[in-house]
Amino acid sequence: MKIAERVSTLPPYVFAKLGRRIVEMKAEGRDVIRLDIGSPDLPPPDFITDALNQSLRDPSHHGYGGYYGTPELRRAMASYYEKRFGIRLHPDKEVAPLIGSKEGIANVALAFVDPGEAVLVPDPGYPTYSLGTVLAGGKPVPMPLLEENDFLPDLDAIPQDIARSAKILWLNYPNNPTGAVASLEFFERVVAFAHRNALLVCHDNPYCDVVFDGYTAPSILQVPGAMDVALEFNSLSKTYNMAGWRVGMAVGNAVAVEALARTKTNIDSGIFVPIQDAAVVALTGDQSWLVERNGVYQERRDLILAALQEIGIQASEPRASLYIWTRVPRGYTSAEFATRLLEEAAVSVTPGSAFGQYGEGYIRISLGMDTTRIGVAMERLRQLDL
Ligand SMILES: Cc1ncc(COP(=O)(O)O)c(C=O)c1O
Repeated sequence: MKIAERVSTLPPYVFAKLGRRIVEMKAEGRDVIRLDIGSPDLPPPDFITDALNQSLRDPSHHGYGGYYGTPELRRAMASYYEKRFGIRLHPDKEVAPLIGSKEGIANVALAFVDPGEAVLVPDPGYPTYSLGTVLAGGKPVPMPLLEENDFLPDLDAIPQDIARSAKILWLNYPNNPTGAVASLEFFERVVAFAHRNALLVCHDNPYCDVVFDGYTAPSILQVPGAMDVALEFNSLSKTYNMAGWRVGMAVGNAVAVEALARTKTNIDSGIFVPIQDAAVVALTGDQSWLVERNGVYQERRDLILAALQEIGIQASEPRASLYIWTRVPRGYTSAEFATRLLEEAAVSVTPGSAFGQYGEGYIRISLGMDTTRIGVAMERLRQLDL
């Protein structure tokens, strides 16, 4: 059987090899601590799961969830953007509910990218920006995120012909995997760049509410003129500990929202109604619990940073996101160092090379793990002779 070229040329799923080894080690009875998974370990609060339970019991809520989401969900998403960022969105024209933001990130390429067209993607970066591009027949063009540039892309380094011919420029701040943040001033430069080059800017903002030390993450839509050129992806996965629920959104430019929504209607049939109802409660209900939840992540961050320092690894302190991104000791590749931690300490971290060529030389450590287990993992690292 011959599978399509576009699939046969896809690289294997980045975590597949690591995942197989972890399964083997667990089968051997080893207690592997997984600091490679970028998913919240904590559940959402009861008032959100109660809303799901209540909606589930309504016999009329078990059919298709509606192609464009319920009007209540679109309004709740618009209301979140207004309260959180001071941005007013038209709930029917500038908001598209998604089955998790990953779905929209892949589908927006089908909506905008014709075969052979270039898409600017951050490197290191969340793999779906480039894999979605490849599935649509486009060509991902990496924008290096370098430590000396605070992990922001250097817009001036993008060759003019590529900037002019590219369809989409992807950004993601607070950033996965580097934990870097971007200022509104940086977003202003991006918006001006997109205007000059007639590009769609897709800003992926799922970590905007996973923040530390009083930091507040902006939305690119706060920049004047952004609504002409930008689409922002957001998600309930990290903000509300609802990663498995699969609910996210794309908001911003009405033409882009419509094109994405039209593409999607031919692929999926919407989000389960009880999940939409619970998402409304998450977005419009009490937000104060996020402060305590972020405090838990911050404590984990500090625990890991202190341990890394003790063993001679200097990592910078992220102000947001679920990740610590740090250089591996001299003499190792990312994969070699991650393998050593896995084999000798049964601690699993993600090699930076999984996120692109400019991720080589780094590892990513996730904060989405029980604090006590993180403590045990750090103790094991202290025992290694690095
Ligand atoms: C940068 C980034 N974008 C998007 C996603 C996907 O989130 P969702 O659960 O909304 O599909 C993730 C998940 O890890 C992510 O790290």
